Amino acid sequence: MKTGIFYGSTTGNTANAAQQIGALLTGARTIPVKEAVKASFEACGLLILGTSTWGLGELQDDWSDSLDSLRAADLRGKKVAIFGLGDQVGHPDSFVDAMGTLYEMAVAAGATVVGKWPTDDYDFLASAAVDGDQFLGLPLDEENQAAFTEERIAAWVEQLLAEAF
Ligand SMILES: Cc1cc2nc3c(=O)[nH]c(=O)nc-3n(C[C@H](O)[C@H](O)[C@H](O)COP(=O)(O)O)c2cc1C
Repeated sequence: MKTGIFYGSTTGNTANAAQQIGALLTGARTIPVKEAVKASFEACGLLILGTSTWGLGELQDDWSDSLDSLRAADLRGKKVAIFGLGDQVGHPDSFVDAMGTLYEMAVAAGATVVGKWPTDDYDFLASAAVDGDQFLGLPLDEENQAAFTEERIAAWVEQLLAEAF
């Protein structure tokens, strides 16, 4: 099964995380989402989608420009996993909201979402990327919890290997 890691990043944090995830998944391709077209998404059996959150809960700009391609893609029978960069102290009311936007788009395109993650070790007030006691993907916070990033990614990739393959 082909794995594609598609990411949008403004200051490099999501790009770094995408590279770290890619290094743990043999054969995965890491692609800036602004270079992706509909066929790029449809070529993968597992799509790992990464975005930071900007404004007040907005998708990162590269994603905003690529939404039509993702909307047009037929992802039935495919798995999608989502990761998101955010700042739970600076933006506690919209923490990693953009993961929620990608989740809705993935479900609308027919995909099965894997890689949900417990909210336990985060301190925030509200997020559009939460369902019950789980995030809809993996949140990473370089501003406040950078020391956890490497271990979170390693554990999440293990989880994906179990859920998606
Ligand atoms: C103006 C501005 C607005 C932001 N808004 C949010 C937000 O609503 N929610 C959130 O979780 N993080 C927010 N952040 C934090 C970024 O998502 C965070 O710095 C992230 O690591 C950036 O990743 P990137 O370099 O890949 O774009 C904001 C940061 C800035 C500077």
